[in-house]
Amino acid sequence: MDISSELKDFKTRIDPHIAAYFDTAIAEARKEDSLVEEALIAVKELALAGGKRLRPAFMHRAYLAAGGDDEERILKTSVSVELLHLFLLVHDDIIDRDDTRHGLPTLHRKYAEIGKKHFDIGDTDHFGVSIAIIMGDMLMAFGNDIIFRSGFPEDRVFRALSKLQSVVSYTVIGQGRDIYMEYKKSATEEEILRMYRNKTAKYTVEGPMHLGAALAGSPEDTLQKFSAYGVPIGVAFQIRDDILGIFGSEEKLGKPVGSDIEEGKLTLLVSRALEKGSRAEERELRRILSVGEGLSGEDIDRFRDIIRGTGSLGYAEDMMRRLVDEGRSALRLIGGGFGEEHSAFFLGVADYLAAREQ
Ligand code: IPE
Ligand code: IPE
Ligand code: MG
Ligand code: MG
Repeated sequence: MDISSELKDFKTRIDPHIAAYFDTAIAEARKEDSLVEEALIAVKELALAGGKRLRPAFMHRAYLAAGGDDEERILKTSVSVELLHLFLLVHDDIIDRDDTRHGLPTLHRKYAEIGKKHFDIGDTDHFGVSIAIIMGDMLMAFGNDIIFRSGFPEDRVFRALSKLQSVVSYTVIGQGRDIYMEYKKSATEEEILRMYRNKTAKYTVEGPMHLGAALAGSPEDTLQKFSAYGVPIGVAFQIRDDILGIFGSEEKLGKPVGSDIEEGKLTLLVSRALEKGSRAEERELRRILSVGEGLSGEDIDRFRDIIRGTGSLGYAEDMMRRLVDEGRSALRLIGGGFGEEHSAFFLGVADYLAAREQ
């Protein structure tokens, strides 16, 4: 099976567990408060409307590769990192002022509309943001709860939960830098790559693999080997996300294209183009990055031309390939550490992350 079919197959297997977790939470909320019950129904819809389930796939696969043998339990438990991801996305969409996710309105936008229908006065945009913040908080609690009640041996649960907290802290550090750089409008390449490691690679690849391996009872040095693979490919994944965010298809992605430009994000693509472009190109890029809402189609086209023309796109693509190769080589060094099938998955998914269209 090729990797994208394998991921689709995994999604078909895990989605019923995601739905079941929400159904229980919705039934609990119903006893207490209809507002949260309805919001949880909306969150469930958003969760199931799209997404590749990469994080649970890494967690599940790392557990098996590390010798774990309770496959049903790890499948159910890996819902944890998908809900952690959704928590981060719900808050990220507020930060990035995005209107769509998984092809649906983002939670804060949906609740701004609901607010408009319900209230005659008051700031309904803020109402939407407020509801999305608390639902994000709830998703984080769910992510912890799933591991806490997973039924794996207590010492492993304790270790996994402790790792999960650290993953969140790194993500906050990365998201903090992302926000700061957007305002500062300058950063070195090294700072940007460190930000990608923290905001994305940790929680997308390395963290889920560590959780899976910890639940399988692996020693710390096995986890370090996973890091040598997971961190570079996680950074490559974010570079691909940046490229798709400018050159991709909104329909395939289920999220806006051009929103990084509108928001004035300082991605690797932008920083390289600012460095390599002529004075006129740099001025033009900075002008387009400061337009904000209502960016025109011509501005986006011009922006794309400069990113291509300065060689910045090619540079980012090369770096992405190098990082994928680095991850693949690190995995090969582990050698016969895992079975053939697991190695093939990790090698294949590394390539997939850099070639994906969605
Ligand atoms: C998007 O992640 C957020 C980033 C860290 C770049 P994904 O592309 O994995 O999101 P879904 O869940 O598949 O939509
Ligand atoms: C998301 O980063 C990283 C998170 C911690 C959620 P982005 O802001 O680059 O991801 P998208 O493009 O909105 O999915
Ligand atoms: Mg975003
Ligand atoms: Mg963001």
